[in-house]
Amino acid sequence: MFQKIFLLILCALNIQQGERCRLNSRIHFGEPLPVILRNGRLLEPTDSSGNVLLDFGESMTLSCEGSGNLFHPNQTREEITASITCAGGENFRNDNWLNAPARFSQFRCSMPPNYVSRRTEQTCFESNPIYEVGYIIQNEFYALYESCFNEETLNAVYSKYSQKPYNAMFQTRVDRPFFISNGVYGHVPVDSLFSPKGQKAAVAQVVGPLVDTYMTMSEFLSRGHLAAKTDFVFAFGERATFHYVNCAPQWYGFNGGNWNTLEVDLRNHVHDVGYNTIIYTGTYGVTTLMTDYGHRANIYLYNDENNNPVIPVPLYFYKVVYEPSTKRGIAFVGINNPYVTAVEARDLFFCRDLCRGNSDFHWLSWHPNNSSEGYTFCCTIPDFRGAVGHLPQFEVNGLLT
Ligand SMILES: *[C@@H]1O[C@H](CO)[C@@H](O)[C@H](O)[C@H]1NC(C)=O
Ligand SMILES: *[C@@H]1O[C@H](CO)[C@@H](O)[C@H](O)[C@H]1NC(C)=O
Ligand SMILES: *[C@@H]1O[C@H](CO)[C@@H](O)[C@H](O)[C@H]1NC(C)=O
Repeated sequence: MFQKIFLLILCALNIQQGERCRLNSRIHFGEPLPVILRNGRLLEPTDSSGNVLLDFGESMTLSCEGSGNLFHPNQTREEITASITCAGGENFRNDNWLNAPARFSQFRCSMPPNYVSRRTEQTCFESNPIYEVGYIIQNEFYALYESCFNEETLNAVYSKYSQKPYNAMFQTRVDRPFFISNGVYGHVPVDSLFSPKGQKAAVAQVVGPLVDTYMTMSEFLSRGHLAAKTDFVFAFGERATFHYVNCAPQWYGFNGGNWNTLEVDLRNHVHDVGYNTIIYTGTYGVTTLMTDYGHRANIYLYNDENNNPVIPVPLYFYKVVYEPSTKRGIAFVGINNPYVTAVEARDLFFCRDLCRGNSDFHWLSWHPNNSSEGYTFCCTIPDFRGAVGHLPQFEVNGLLT
């Protein structure tokens, strides 16, 4: 008898509270995914496995603003932005829009939502402006990352964003959009300068007929992401990385070699050890090639109307990783030039390399001595600051391994 009453009470409580919703970044997110807001912010997973947990009755906002409409098989009309409420498991309701509790994995946009950049009033290194890249929803801007961008040389100095354990569980099978410039490059035809023809013409301007020894079937300049596509967990974040304020010319072998290895290993390591980090991924210096007159010349993709060189091919790509809660950090650096010899590379290392032969970095599987994959090394943040002045002030007490 008592047991029965107890069960009844339990059931009553249960009905009132309802079943929670649980979505996983690898399973329940469709494509093209709407932009998703929760509590007025872009959606983030609740835990390190990429799960999003919501209480029964809790709401989120979905939006395809600026590109198309929301779509769900159970919709009764068209909406661009709509709120959905957890109805348990992977089901959500909105009685004005949907005729039944709707499966989350079937929410889509008719077209991928449009990301945009906006120039802020804030500045970074050498008074360059900070751009933010994100989405506009109902007149509010939601940023995914920021870029310190040099408008004179049209160089992405660095992109700043966070990396947490859940980032290793990024949504898969997300289409790559074309890079956009959103007017940031003015009249400079950035798209065609990065094209095979455009970059070859630019390099030929500097090195003459030697261009064919540098630009080959296996080496050319790719659109190197600073923040990687899969450094963001959901499709709307992954797509937003395809902006030229987050891009610099990067040799193909380095891009797919040690740089890619660093991106993958770091993301997995942050997941495995549970770091909550801020990352500055940037570029430094200008790479050189030997000309047919036998001297080294800086490589840029273009000369602007005042004949100033713009869009440098950086000499270095770096990732500075910082954990605010422990005030620890580290800088990973790679040389963006497959034509540098081992002896030359040694001169280009601007700090004592912490990673080589250090078992604390066994998780990092790059090949630091391989020229075509890109020579690489690691520095303490103070050493890095001594060579590269880009970073804003933050306190560092130790090495993040
Ligand atoms: C909702 O959509 C699903 C999948 O298309 C369908 O099986 C179901 O019958 C729909 N429910 C209603 C009430 O239309
Ligand atoms: C890698 O290069 C460094 C610097 O040039 C050199 O000291 C070291 O012996 C090389 N290591 C290997 C395994 O080749
Ligand atoms: C360097 O890396 C490339 C690409 O992975 C590989 O083909 C090549 O054998 C490597 N070179 C050496 C010396 O290990």
